Amino acid sequence: MNTIGTRLRLTIFGSSHGPGTGCVLDGVPPGIEVDREDIQREMDLRRPSGALGTPRTEEDLVEVLAGVVDGATTGAPVVLFIANRDTDSSKYERFRTTPRPGHADLTALKKYGESADLRGGGQFSGRMTAPMVAAGAVAKEVLRTIGVQVAAYTQKLGPIEDREERTFKEVRRQGRDNPVRAADPAIALDMIHEIMEARTEEDSVGGVVRCLTVGLPIGVGEPFFDSLEGELAKMVFSIPGVKGVEFGAGFRAAGLRGSENNDAFQVRDGDIYTVTNNAGGVLGGLSNGMPLDMKVAFKPTASISREQKSVDLERMEDTTIKVEGRHDPCIVPRAVVVVEAATALVLADLCLRGDFIA
Ligand SMILES: Cc1cc2nc3c(=O)[nH]c(=O)nc-3n(C[C@H](O)[C@H](O)[C@H](O)COP(=O)(O)O)c2cc1C
Repeated sequence: MNTIGTRLRLTIFGSSHGPGTGCVLDGVPPGIEVDREDIQREMDLRRPSGALGTPRTEEDLVEVLAGVVDGATTGAPVVLFIANRDTDSSKYERFRTTPRPGHADLTALKKYGESADLRGGGQFSGRMTAPMVAAGAVAKEVLRTIGVQVAAYTQKLGPIEDREERTFKEVRRQGRDNPVRAADPAIALDMIHEIMEARTEEDSVGGVVRCLTVGLPIGVGEPFFDSLEGELAKMVFSIPGVKGVEFGAGFRAAGLRGSENNDAFQVRDGDIYTVTNNAGGVLGGLSNGMPLDMKVAFKPTASISREQKSVDLERMEDTTIKVEGRHDPCIVPRAVVVVEAATALVLADLCLRGDFIA
């Protein structure tokens, strides 16, 4: 439904073209430093960037309605709200009879009938990730108390792939410096070019966000169904546009021999490490002390300017549709901070469940 988490419970509400979106984050321990400006900085990373984005570029101002007093959490639910400003929904009316390919118009209409809210994609809109990002900023503060840090970057955009093994520090340093959130400025230029080309061709591109987490103690995750991978996958698949998740070698592991895939153990400075990280930091559904390494695949943006085949639901016959307006040819750069937030929320919940956080 609209609530996720066990000890740290996130409920999101609102819609793309209603008064706004927001969240209630329950279970945040008292005394966590939370600064509205820090949350706002994360929100700003979700905005479309200049020429790469949609016209809907107004700042998403986050309001802290409850749970924080004098810059620290009180133990009460943290309530965050983001007002909508661009709410002209007239252009969405015709999708009730002619659903847009790649969007949830048809599935929502079949499930909710005439009551379905299709304005701006309603509940299925990428806009619902705004409160996730705000809540994620709080979760990052919770994790910071035990030295856990999360950082993500655009690892692949259309055919442009960053094949370098990136360190956490590199991702942290570069991943916020360019509009596509790439870990390397030269690769960023190629990615920008790819987005521009897709726009010129009235098309869109997808990509892969890679998210690294460092500082996780060994043993985070719960058996059996609440494994670290399972909990993360569930959260990440809630992000609109996500079509795949892998950890470490992921699907590539299926083609390796055990001798190639097993991560050999090693003692270094009194701690146990693995020489490689094909497991992506997870063994038996529990964190193994190595960096958590997750990749999330996003499909190309559904809204494209080209004419597409659809159906007329009233006449029950084939037709075509042209989705008017300017479109974001790639949502991946905006989704980078969303993946970070989703990861931080799950990890904070599991760390609280495992008593890694008091
Ligand atoms: C941050 C973010 C922004 C998004 N913006 C758009 C957009 O501008 N246009 C679009 O077609 N899809 C956008 N999406 C994706 C759609 O909401 C999503 O593809 C659609 O609702 C169908 O859901 P599904 O792809 O998960 O099946 C966005 C997703 C995210 C995470």
